[in-house]
Amino acid sequence: MKTLLLHENEPNTAEIAAQLLREGKLVALPTETVYGLGADGLNEEAVKNIFLAKGRPQDNPLIIHIAKAEDMVLWCRDIPEAAWLLAERFWPGPLTMVLPVKETVPKRTTANLDTVAVRCPQTKITREIIRLAGRPIAAPSANLSGKPSTTSAGHVLHDYGMDGPLAAIVDAGPCRVGVESTIVDLTGERPRLLRPGGIGPEELKAVLGELEVDKAVTAQISADSVVRAPGMKYKHYAPSAQVIVVEGTREAAAGYIRAHFKENDAVLCFEEELPLYEGYAPTAYGRENDPETLSAGLFAALRKLDRGDIATIYARCPMGGGVAYAVQNRLRKAAGFVCVNAE
Ligand code: TXA
Ligand code: MG
Repeated sequence: MKTLLLHENEPNTAEIAAQLLREGKLVALPTETVYGLGADGLNEEAVKNIFLAKGRPQDNPLIIHIAKAEDMVLWCRDIPEAAWLLAERFWPGPLTMVLPVKETVPKRTTANLDTVAVRCPQTKITREIIRLAGRPIAAPSANLSGKPSTTSAGHVLHDYGMDGPLAAIVDAGPCRVGVESTIVDLTGERPRLLRPGGIGPEELKAVLGELEVDKAVTAQISADSVVRAPGMKYKHYAPSAQVIVVEGTREAAAGYIRAHFKENDAVLCFEEELPLYEGYAPTAYGRENDPETLSAGLFAALRKLDRGDIATIYARCPMGGGVAYAVQNRLRKAAGFVCVNAE
């Protein structure tokens, strides 16, 4: 179908997008984290089309997006006090909560789990679209399965073209956060971090008092294992090249990379490091001393380096908490947890 290109600032964008969603069509939606591939979360056929369009395994459940926190009660049951506290503090924003699901949500959306992931996104136009659609909007990151997430409308267009499965793309510019939402599971005995994102673990802990970190966050999970976040077992966010995360001081890392660099390799580094890689055509994705620029720039840089002719990408990765922790997680995942210490 011909894909409509809508802009957040044009009149009627929200009405048009909401109408398409009500008709069961796929609409790419901007959020502060990444662009999502949205469809009516209550329409099994529409949800099925999300999986088909992305090439996503059917056992990987979707996040439903709501326009306001109170709507949680429509799709979730036994909502703990902690969920309301987190919603109060971080919604609308880059936080997803896993809660017990009500029968109002189709099995296809939750991939048959008895829980559902919910999020109230910050981007205003998208909340308005959800409100006008009058239903929860199921939306995975809009990238084709296995590709780095989409942080601009251009990325979405690149993955699907103008004659693909999308009825429309709503453009609201580049995503502010740039990595997917933090996911916290509130269905177990203790709150558990399933995926780091725009909200750091320290911030969650400050509200929750305690937080376990799922092992899928820190290590590769095999494809046949049972995991809390089914998406965690797939090698995600990966360009076609082998990524190697190089840790250590700037000078030690540059020494290591320059010693191992071959023709057809690439360097992904911090802006501050560019002078160290003169002659190596380095790609900088943000400033080390401003981790929000790193999260905002990471996926665009990985996409740029996803060219097929690059053998190895040597990547520099920030240390620390907050959103740097999420950047670290995405890079390590892209690397299949291949890290070297250059010191
Ligand atoms: O920032 C985001 O969260 C973006 C935007 C569009 O909102 N969405 C996103 O969706 O990243 P997706 O599908 O790419 O990643 C959702 C992750 C997957 O790893 C999935 O397995 C996990 O959330 N998930 C979904 N429902 C779950 C559930 N009930 N229990 C545990 N994990 C769940
Ligand atoms: Mg995704």
